[in-house]
Order: sequence, then C-alpha cells, then structure tokens
Amino acid sequence: MTTSDEVREKYLKFFESRGHKRISPAPLVLENDPTTLFTSSGMQPLVPYLMGESHPEGVRLVDSQPTIRAQGKNDDILEVGDSRHLTYFEMLGNWSLGDYFKKEQLEWVWELYTKVLKIPKDRLYVTLFEGDGVVEKDLVSYGIWKKLKVHEDRIFFYGAKENWWSRSGTPDEMPEGEIGGPTSEIFYEFTEVPHDKKFGKECHPNCDCGRFLEIGNCVFMIYKKTAGKLKELPKKNVDFGGGLERITAAVNNDPDVFKIDLYWPAIQKISKYFEVDYEDHKKTMQIIADHLRASLALIDNGVEPSNKQQGYVLRRLIRRIVVKLKEFKKNVEVGDVEKFTSSKVILAEVGKFNITLKKGLKQVEKIKNIDGKSAFDLYQSYGFPLELTAEIFEDKGQKIDLEEFKAEFEKHKNLSRSASAGTFKGGLADSSEKTTALHTVTHLLHASLRKVLGDSVSQKGSNITSERLRFDFSHPQKLTEKELKEVESKVNEQIDKKLPVKSSEMDFEGAKKLGALAFFEGKYGEKVKVYNVGDFSSEVCGGPHVKNTSFLGRVKIIKQDKIGSGLIRVYATVQNGS
Ligand code: ALA
Repeated sequence: MTTSDEVREKYLKFFESRGHKRISPAPLVLENDPTTLFTSSGMQPLVPYLMGESHPEGVRLVDSQPTIRAQGKNDDILEVGDSRHLTYFEMLGNWSLGDYFKKEQLEWVWELYTKVLKIPKDRLYVTLFEGDGVVEKDLVSYGIWKKLKVHEDRIFFYGAKENWWSRSGTPDEMPEGEIGGPTSEIFYEFTEVPHDKKFGKECHPNCDCGRFLEIGNCVFMIYKKTAGKLKELPKKNVDFGGGLERITAAVNNDPDVFKIDLYWPAIQKISKYFEVDYEDHKKTMQIIADHLRASLALIDNGVEPSNKQQGYVLRRLIRRIVVKLKEFKKNVEVGDVEKFTSSKVILAEVGKFNITLKKGLKQVEKIKNIDGKSAFDLYQSYGFPLELTAEIFEDKGQKIDLEEFKAEFEKHKNLSRSASAGTFKGGLADSSEKTTALHTVTHLLHASLRKVLGDSVSQKGSNITSERLRFDFSHPQKLTEKELKEVESKVNEQIDKKLPVKSSEMDFEGAKKLGALAFFEGKYGEKVKVYNVGDFSSEVCGGPHVKNTSFLGRVKIIKQDKIGSGLIRVYATVQNGS
C-alpha cells in the first residue's frame, strides 16, 4: 500500500526537478485575509502573485497546502459521508506565474500520474472547457492530450459549471476583482464500482455515482472580473491542485478515500473500541474520521471551539463526532472519546456538549408538543441534534414534522449563507483597495508604536477587514491618551510626506541584517519580500501594498484593549482614502 507521505514527496520532488521552488504552506487560518475563514485552496495565499505581483521565490512554485472547505459556498461538512468528500484535505499544488502554460502543465501532470505514480493509463480520463461564447472551447489542450495519446473517447468537454474554476464558481458567479479560468481536469475510473443509474443513464467523468474520482485540476488562470466582464490578466498563469488523499486512493486503486493511511488507523481504533464493523456503519465512520482529522488540524492552527467564525466550525465538527458516536453508544462520555484522541481541546468540548445535551433534555421534557419549529429552536439554542430529538419523541410516541424542521433549517442556512457571502465579498470585491490601504497603514502603525513606546513592541497578531485594521502587540499596559495621539500623528505625518512604498526581494537572513521587522521565523535560505515605506518602516511581508502613502487617507485609532498580560490590541480606520 502506498502511503500519503510517499505520494506527497514524489509530487513535490517531481516539480522541484522541473524548476519549481518548494514553498511553505500558509496556515489554515490566514491573518489579514477577511475574504474567507479558512485557506480553502492552494492558490489562496498566492492571489496577489497570480494577479501580477512578483513572488520572491520565482515564477515556478510547488507546495502541499492544508485546506478546509467548511464555509459558505465551499461548505462540504454535510457532503461528507461518502467515499470521497472531505472537509479537511491537503491540496498538492504547482503554479506557473506567467511562465510555462498548457503544454508543460498537461505533459508534466500526465508524466507524474502515469510514470512516477504508475497509475495505469486505461484508468484515466480528462475533461476540458467547451467554451461559452466569451471564452473559447479549449482545443489547444485537446490537441495536447491527443499528442499524449489520450484516446478521444477519454476526453470530455463540459461547460463552466464543471470546467471553470474560481473561488466563487462560474464566470457569472465571480465578483468584481476575482480571478479564474477554464480548467482541464483528470479523473480516475474505478472500474470495479458499477454505475448507479440514480445519477443518470450513462456514467461519465463528472457523474456523482462514485465510479469516477477527480484527482487533478489544471486551472488556466488568465482572467479577472473587471467592470462585470472577464478581462485578461497581465500574465498567463497555471494553478494546479490535486487532493493528496484522493490521489493516494487512486494510486492504491481503492475507491474509498478513508482506507488510506491518514484515516484507516483511527477508524480501526474506533471500530475496535465500540465493537462495530466499518462496513456496517460506513457513512457514520467516514464522518467521524473526517471530522476528527479536520478538528485536530484546526486545533493545531490555534483555533478553539466557540460560537463565532472558525471556532464555530470547530465546535460543529466536534459535536457532530459525538452525535455520530451515539449510533454506537447511547451516552458518549469523555472517557469514550479519549480512547481514540488525546486532544485536550476535543475532550473539553465533548464535556461541554454533554452538559448542553442534559440542559436540552430538560427543556425537551417541558415541551408538550414538539413541532418542527421547536425542534429547530432546540437545535439552534442547545446544539441539540435533530437525530436525538427525533429519537426521544419517538420514545414518547410523538413524531416531529421533519418538513417543518427542514424549512426552518433552510431559512437559517440562507441567512448564514448571505452572511458568509458578505465575508467573501468584503475583501475581494468592491473594497480590495481599502484592504490594501489598511495593510500599508498597519506597517506605519507598527513602526510608529515602536518609535513612541520603544523597540520592545512587537507584533503579535493582525487582522484586517475592509472597514478597519486590528493590531495586537506586546506592551505592558494600555497607552495613555498622549501616547495614542502621538502614535496616530506619526502615522499621519508619514502619509502627508507622500512616501514611496517599495519592495525588494532577498533571503531571510539578509532581510534581518538590514533591520527589517519580521515576526515569524523564516527558513534558512528562504527568499522573502521586504516592504519599505520611505525610511520609516521596513518589514518582511508578502504584500500587497499601496504604491505611495499619498493613496492613504487620515488614520484614526478608534479603540484599544488590554487583551492579555502584556498584550494590547488597537483598532484603527482610515478615512477618505483612495
Ligand atoms: N485552485 C484549484 C482548485 O482548488 C486548482 O481546484
């Protein structure tokens, strides 16, 4: 059995030997990116470079990026529970930033899959964009696949729904400023899995019956939505992404992704402890195994269960594990969960959930007639799962109106969807310039704080939305009125000086020698970008920034808090900026 580590290493080495620089993956929760809760694709941390900024590591990049698809349009939590959907996965990615294009990408990915990973050619299919009147049918890629001896019966053309990629979907769904392009995708056929007619008369690569598995997506990232139309980007980029877990499953010719080394040991532990057979409880086990791995990854990235944002996703995942385990044991205690995870965060949340469940149960006792709405309220206020509510009434001889519950649920889902669409829009669409401006202001603020309070001030965190910046730094106490004013005016003075903002690329050690501020440890030899705002500020940072401080408006510090021992948080806005 081939392990995921072997597949990852082979992929990274293959592209390294073709001139790609291996870059460090971004954290799952990105600082300064108000557009999403999580990193949900490999390209996300590279958006500025795909739009034309130069990347310090060059024009050919490769990495393995942990990603989570658990929000808004990308919410896969409820999709999990089949052989191939995952909320958390590792995306193998390679990029050409205006360097090679279709020919090299398709030839290389073919060589990688068929020669290096030794996937039999007669299991592979490819798909292409059929054109839509604005963007042409991809006959260039078709010619390349034919040259690679892919039989035309194995090449399928689809419309934008299947063969177009942007973070927000088809060209019509792309907001202003979003980038995207047509794709060529690679599919593996599990010939042992019979086609399920429920999904259509004939099976084909994009059929959802489980016979085909997408194992690679070559995005020809060449457009940006501009004034409602697709406009070509300054350079032609390639953005490739392939799920490590799925590729590993294909290499092992096992249609069940949960059989690979990243899930199977946990599944075995759980089935042994609860004395249940995986084959009899597949869906439940798949959900538990997926949610467990996703939860551990979030916790590893510093997320804690809460009722907000990333924390809420984590809470939902952990609670869902407990609900699913109830299928094996009525009362799931912390001690049961401890048998297969030692994570203190998970165990504490299980304990909290059990208390909530008890409260919810009391509440349930009080309600005489449970209708769909009260079942939904229980779900909303106590995190009381419908599965449980249904069970208890059935015990009481009642039945919940499921349709009513579903209607409430849909209403709520639409509301939260539009809320997260707002999150998405916030940074990308109308206000990406504001976000960029606030990013530059953050550098000025940081330098100014150090000038007023001393060099012991160092950045501990930063978060930017299109409305304001938030900056955490080390300092023993809140600032006095006078200090606040001084920091603020220093920032505004630099803005008035119309200072140029310039970046240069160098290795990390060099940047430190030059005195650039850097609040993460770079890897030895790693190239970084240093942004200088006149002589006032010098910081290691990926950008983007405004070109000159004259583009910034008046900066105002609107609030400060002491958020921990030796930790101060300030909020600032910028007014009348460009
Ligand atoms: N960015 C592309 C994806 O996530 C490769 O599928």
